[in-house]
Amino acid sequence: MNRVYIKTYGCQMNQRDSEQVACDLRSRGYSIVQHEEDADVVLLNTCSVRDQAEQKAIGKAGHLARRKRENPNFVLGILGCMAQNRGSELLDRLPDLDLVAGTQKFHRVPDHLDNLIASMNAQGPRPTSILDLEEELDSQNAINSHKAGERQVSAFVSIMQGCNMKCTFCIVPKTRGPERARPIAHIIQEVETLVANGTREVTLLGQIVTSYGRREIPFIDKKSPFVQLLEQLNEIDGLERIRFTSPHPRGFKEDLVEAYGRLDKLCEYAHLPVQSGSDRILKAMNRPYSVDRYMQLVRDLRAVQPDMYFSTDIIVGFPGETDQDFQMTCDMFEEIGFDMAFIFKYSPRSGTPAAELHDDVPKTVKEERNQILLKILEKQSRRRNASLVGTIQEILVECPARKGEGMFMGRTRGFRKVIFPASQRLIGEMVDVEIEESSVTTLKGRLSLTGVDTGMAVAT
Ligand code: SAH
Ligand code: F3S
Repeated sequence: MNRVYIKTYGCQMNQRDSEQVACDLRSRGYSIVQHEEDADVVLLNTCSVRDQAEQKAIGKAGHLARRKRENPNFVLGILGCMAQNRGSELLDRLPDLDLVAGTQKFHRVPDHLDNLIASMNAQGPRPTSILDLEEELDSQNAINSHKAGERQVSAFVSIMQGCNMKCTFCIVPKTRGPERARPIAHIIQEVETLVANGTREVTLLGQIVTSYGRREIPFIDKKSPFVQLLEQLNEIDGLERIRFTSPHPRGFKEDLVEAYGRLDKLCEYAHLPVQSGSDRILKAMNRPYSVDRYMQLVRDLRAVQPDMYFSTDIIVGFPGETDQDFQMTCDMFEEIGFDMAFIFKYSPRSGTPAAELHDDVPKTVKEERNQILLKILEKQSRRRNASLVGTIQEILVECPARKGEGMFMGRTRGFRKVIFPASQRLIGEMVDVEIEESSVTTLKGRLSLTGVDTGMAVAT
């Protein structure tokens, strides 16, 4: 009864939450399995950002519920955003669920499972379902843990929870609650432990990381708590790279822009959700910046880091988006030349202000606009990758490549994926790779022998 499979939907925050649940469960004697069929307990960690994400998880849960009929001891739980968003309604819809735990209840999952299993053992199958959704805003004060014994070259580190913004389309403030920051000392301690176990790169996670600690931690020398955190991380010996996601464009004040020029471990990459290239639509979305202001920010960042890479989130088909609004999005998208982007078709989320508006852009038009932006993105990404052919890039070697004997995968500081021949002992090392080939998504190359110990003598 102790084999658990966790399936994660949605963003990196959810991935990190699943990692933490897996860690907590392991320390209670559960084993985490890689295949659903091998599990006695399946937990779905869910996403609510778009309806499609919720429908996927509901479909999956419905399918898994059938397994209960064959095996009454099988345990099925739903965790995270959809649990928080839909609450007891989920139990009406899926009466076979054993556990529904919200976004502030991940740390309670081991207790709940222990109790469920104990009561099943005592009374036979089907004890009452557990619904645990209340607010527990200090739950992020716990010291986070990562998988022991297995090296994570690149690790996610959650620095805050929640979001206080009121973007009219967004369900996240409801599912994740208000902003709460973890103390700087906890984060530093977590990263130092990771580094001692071989981590070289961290990605700081939060719904709006640029607002990190706004209420809890004072500014020092005009530097925001987030920049203070970056500075302290930059000092950690053995840590090579710092990334973060997601910031808010409004949170990119001078101190953060300037940090890109000063902090050598901060990678020259920014995921800057813009959502639309039309000021009218931005206003309807309650995004507090204009397209001009956003473009100025991109120019400011390029001024301190000419090699800067930019990625973004765009919503197409927001209520009232005309062809002209969409054309403005395309123009901005090309002018900035985004290297990467997540393009979403607008999906009304019940309870958000935008859900009161008429969802007037037909599905086919949303799809068409989505495709148009994807085409532009493909062109831009291909061009950026092609421009790297012939250069030597600093790569953090992450793992064996999925395909090709002796091939390994790593990333540039700009987050471009590179495949090259190397050896196992280079995993976790920084190496120089000469880029020889490029496609839209991937670069190929070979270790550059100038001044680097390639480890290849061992391999051959
Ligand atoms: N700042 C958060 C945003 C979470 S939602 C973060 O990145 O962690 C991620 C993206 O989903 C948003 O930037 C937006 O582009 C998209 N999105 C959010 N709500 C949406 C909706 N109702 N329909 C379509 N896309 C949406
Ligand atoms: Fe959502 Fe806007 Fe916050 S997109 S997560 S409400 S910044």
